[in-house]
Amino acid sequence: MLIKSLTMIDFRKYEQVSMNFGSHTNILHGENGAGKTTILEAIHSLAYTRSFKTRLDADLARHGRVGYQLKGLFSDHQGIEHKVRLKVESARKKIVSVDNNNLKSRAEIIGRFPLVSLTPEDGELTFGSPEVRRLFFNKLLSQVDPAYLEQLQIYARILKQRNSMLQTYAIDGGAFDRILIATLDDQRAKVSAQLHQARSRHLTEFKKLLYEAYGQLEQENSLKMAFRSNVRVTAGEPEGLYRKAYQDSLAEDLRKGTTTRGPHRDLFTFFLNTKDLRKFGSQGEHKLVLVAVKFAEGRFLESFLKEPPVFLLDDLFAELDVKRSLMIVESLRGDHQIFITATDLADLRHHGLTVEGDSLQVIDAGKIQDHG
Ligand SMILES: Nc1ncnc2c1ncn2[C@@H]1O[C@H](COP(=O)(O)OP(=O)(O)OP(=O)(O)O)[C@@H](O)[C@H]1O
Ligand SMILES: [Mg+2]
Repeated sequence: MLIKSLTMIDFRKYEQVSMNFGSHTNILHGENGAGKTTILEAIHSLAYTRSFKTRLDADLARHGRVGYQLKGLFSDHQGIEHKVRLKVESARKKIVSVDNNNLKSRAEIIGRFPLVSLTPEDGELTFGSPEVRRLFFNKLLSQVDPAYLEQLQIYARILKQRNSMLQTYAIDGGAFDRILIATLDDQRAKVSAQLHQARSRHLTEFKKLLYEAYGQLEQENSLKMAFRSNVRVTAGEPEGLYRKAYQDSLAEDLRKGTTTRGPHRDLFTFFLNTKDLRKFGSQGEHKLVLVAVKFAEGRFLESFLKEPPVFLLDDLFAELDVKRSLMIVESLRGDHQIFITATDLADLRHHGLTVEGDSLQVIDAGKIQDHG
């Protein structure tokens, strides 16, 4: 997949600009505040209907405007082009269309124009709480497995209802509908087993790609990723095991006013040389794992979707030494369209990226405003 051109109207600082991109490496160059990240955000918003920085469309509209518009021309690996348009007219009115057909739901576009973005916010993926990693894997698996997305939505609905029952009980006490909660837990056990199986299966695949990607960047340390299910699902029948765990934990849940067991508490943990990365990793070690996760994400998406994703790399070289940067640049060579932001071209050269050549385009983010 590649994006050939982009138009932004009233999107963040841009009033009305259009630009064309090269099919290999695109360098978005400009000083702080020039508008580099905004271009990545626009591309992401077109492909996933929302930004990686905010869910509030009001923040994306240029100060003083209520809406904004984005247009992108995408091309798949066969060269077939698609026009994607996103128009926000007000907080409540957002229209996304592909080839002039308006979409009814996000699910219609998720997975069609795959992107891998690496932005400073992604640092949370290795530094942050388990929740961040669960969200990451949920988003990744949802793109390749529509059944997984559906199961997640069902699980979230049940969990919400169950928690609100538990909360009401914790606050008011009184009568408690045990039959209803047993019914919910029956349904929850069923979908939990499905989620568990999908996670185990996909993560086995993902881990292979991750270790391979990491091994290309770093030979001295060893990385392991563990998926630990919150309910022990050993050999046997997972649905029954979940049902039993839910029955056993009901008393505790009633006491705490929340649901303590289930896949919403599963853990994904990174270990560097057998030590928890989150607790012991250095900044650069974190960043290298993050880059490996992103490369693995790209290969994972590509293997399922049969479409090479576009890489959006914001501030890629921060925290990395030159040796590691060179390895990253080396493994980026391939058939992907890449966007890299830079405040300083000399710094890119320093990190091993040749900034001249046919396969590379430099876009000066600070100057495009003038081209209207
Ligand atoms: N809704 C908005 N309306 C107008 N301007 C905005 C809006 N949101 C952000 N900006 C401004 O847009 C400018 C560009 O931001 P952007 O994050 O794209 O810069 P950048 O080139 O990535 O900078 P840096 O190198 O510091 O990361 C900033 O000055 C920011 O204050
Ligand atoms: Mg930026």
